Amino acid sequence: MTDQFVIYNPVKLHFGKQVVEKLGKAASSLGKKALLVYGKGSVKRNGAYDDTVESLRKAGVEIVEYQGIKPNPIVEDVDKAAELGRKEGVDMVVAVGGGSVLDSAKYIAITIPAANSCWGYATGKIKPKAALPILGVLTLAATGSEMNPLGVVQHDKEKKKIGYGHPLMFPKHSFLDPSYTTSVPADYTAYGIVDLVAHALEGWFGEGDASLTDRFIVSIINEAIEYGPRLMADPENYELRSKIMFAATMALNGLTNQGKKTGDWGVHGIGHAMSVLWDIPHGASLSIAFPAWLTLQQNRIPNRIEELGYATFQTNTVDDTIRAMKNFFRELGSPVSLAEAGVNAGEEAQQELLEVMRINKVDGNVHKLSDDDYQSLIKHMI
Ligand code: NZQ
Ligand code: ZN
Repeated sequence: MTDQFVIYNPVKLHFGKQVVEKLGKAASSLGKKALLVYGKGSVKRNGAYDDTVESLRKAGVEIVEYQGIKPNPIVEDVDKAAELGRKEGVDMVVAVGGGSVLDSAKYIAITIPAANSCWGYATGKIKPKAALPILGVLTLAATGSEMNPLGVVQHDKEKKKIGYGHPLMFPKHSFLDPSYTTSVPADYTAYGIVDLVAHALEGWFGEGDASLTDRFIVSIINEAIEYGPRLMADPENYELRSKIMFAATMALNGLTNQGKKTGDWGVHGIGHAMSVLWDIPHGASLSIAFPAWLTLQQNRIPNRIEELGYATFQTNTVDDTIRAMKNFFRELGSPVSLAEAGVNAGEEAQQELLEVMRINKVDGNVHKLSDDDYQSLIKHMI
């Protein structure tokens, strides 16, 4: 075990049918006026928007709206929303949507009091000193953003996508009603399952020896292996939606890192580079990058890969483990190569990816990647 570690998670998570009814009361204890942030409209079709607005209105909370956050959210949207919130004098941010909306809300909450661009935080140039309270209504099971202090934002001109975290970015309350997720289309349902598995894997390949945490990680992955394919075959099933939603929250709320120093996160860096370049959905980028990363690492950390395979896919060799993981992702409906993601990765595209990987320094925290490794990884991903 790491000699010293701290466990801290202040998020109050409300889980189950109709929990959003409780949002208004929670909000009214935090202020009078909310900036309601959402994406391109899915929340208006699945009831999450109406339920949130009704709950806020009933509690007497005034609403200002910012809509249009895109998947792989961009700096411009966050800054515009923060400007609106500042001008309107809101005293909280309510996010309704998936990880992109939640992440944006976190940056908006630290940007409103400071009147600078959120990019300064993401790049580490400035530190947040204050934040408005954040409340989240999650409609897509994937990122774990609902119960962590992390936010990922993209700067297209700089070709960077950066994950940043600060304790001020923890939501005060998150509301998870799995019913909202029954409308998530098959592709994003699959990407969400990949993402939660990838979060567990980043922990598995992290630094520090915590056997209990390894068992948490294995349990989360096994939950996805057992219920993910069943959900893909039965997408309206509330029980299955709940299991995957709960697993996704637990995969990145600190549980998979307890007693360890850090996760690796190299694969996430590689995935972010693909999103910057081709706007590939986050989960899809990970189902391409993880098998490639394992292939690269197969002779460097064979025992760790074998141990993982044995505990999850019941495989006995490194090769079989990588094959089983690839099959699992592919059968869910998530791509395992750039070609499957619709990217024609010829020589020019490969060079572009290499450049963006270098710009984003996707070398990971533990199993450090060299420039030669970047080039091998690209060959494994095309
Ligand atoms: O924009 P709308 O119309 O809302 O549609 C969204 C979007 O097109 C749609 N959607 C969401 N809920 C739905 C739904 N469609 C139908 N029914 C519903 N109930 O799904 C699409 C994708 O949404 P998005 O929020 O982008 O997906 P996700 O939750 O996977 O979030 C991805 C973002 O989170 C970051 C990723 O990098 C990416 O930018 N991550 C955040 C992390 C964190 N904060 O801890 C960690 C992750 O590793 C990840 O990096
Ligand atoms: Zn992720």
